[in-house]
Amino acid sequence: MDDSKVALVTGGSRGIGAAIVRRLAADGMRVAFTYATKRDRAEQVVNEVNAHQGHALCLEADAADPAGIAGVVEHALDRWGRLDVVVANAGVARAGGIDTLPAEEIDQMIDVNVRGVVHTIRAALPHLRDGGRIVTIGSVNAERAPFAGAAAYAMTKAAVAGLVRGLARDLGPRGITVNNVQPGPTANDSMTVDGPAAHAMTKWLALPRIGTPEEVSALVSYLAGPEAAFVTGASLTIDGGFAA
Ligand SMILES: NC(=O)c1ccc[n+]([C@@H]2O[C@H](COP(=O)([O-])OP(=O)(O)OC[C@H]3O[C@@H](n4cnc5c(N)ncnc54)[C@H](OP(=O)(O)O)[C@@H]3O)[C@@H](O)[C@H]2O)c1
Repeated sequence: MDDSKVALVTGGSRGIGAAIVRRLAADGMRVAFTYATKRDRAEQVVNEVNAHQGHALCLEADAADPAGIAGVVEHALDRWGRLDVVVANAGVARAGGIDTLPAEEIDQMIDVNVRGVVHTIRAALPHLRDGGRIVTIGSVNAERAPFAGAAAYAMTKAAVAGLVRGLARDLGPRGITVNNVQPGPTANDSMTVDGPAAHAMTKWLALPRIGTPEEVSALVSYLAGPEAAFVTGASLTIDGGFAA
């Protein structure tokens, strides 16, 4: 019988989420992950993991839909019979003032970045093993927003940091740790490591480059692993000095 740990990751089809899926699978976990629309990208990640003798499965589910995320938890349990780690990564960022952004875009950020995190954790909690791990992906913008147009996004990520502090208290008696990883500018589809957007961003950083999804996934791996058993309620920033 396979007694390896099982992780659930939201938004694992690309970017930081895909790196987290690959890393947790390389750590020996079986990983179920969600995507919103990009099925091809999600299947590519599954194929990569499985080609390296890992175990991954992907399911389409809107992170902001409680029924959808509950279905994903059920599917993972049916397939693998346990749940040890939850990583609430799915998120959307829209730049603009709260008076200039379309109201729907502000609502979408609240839906995915806040409601989605709450409902993902709520759906997982009855099944999460004692001693389990919850990791949220927040943002350094929760603590520092040095340019205009980040207010609504920063608000959603500050909400996540607050949620994590409270949850750490609620779940401590079960030995479940709850931590929030706060990346700074990190390469993704819209900002490649050497592209113009990344170069423009470096003026806000102490280091002369943006981060990689793999660097963020390494911190998630630590928090999801046995060595981080005494770390809880923390927001850990990985930002190349953006907040320095
Ligand atoms: N990249 C950065 O600079 C940076 C900095 C700080 C914090 N973060 C945070 O890190 C996390 C990942 O960011 P990223 O840059 O890697 O994002 P990304 O490359 O844009 O990927 C977003 C992921 O989330 C999924 N997703 C989006 N909306 C969803 C929804 N409603 N339901 C389910 N899944 C959804 C996407 O699925 P599809 O592929 O199907 O669309 C995709 O897998 C986010 O929480 C973000 O706020 C990123």
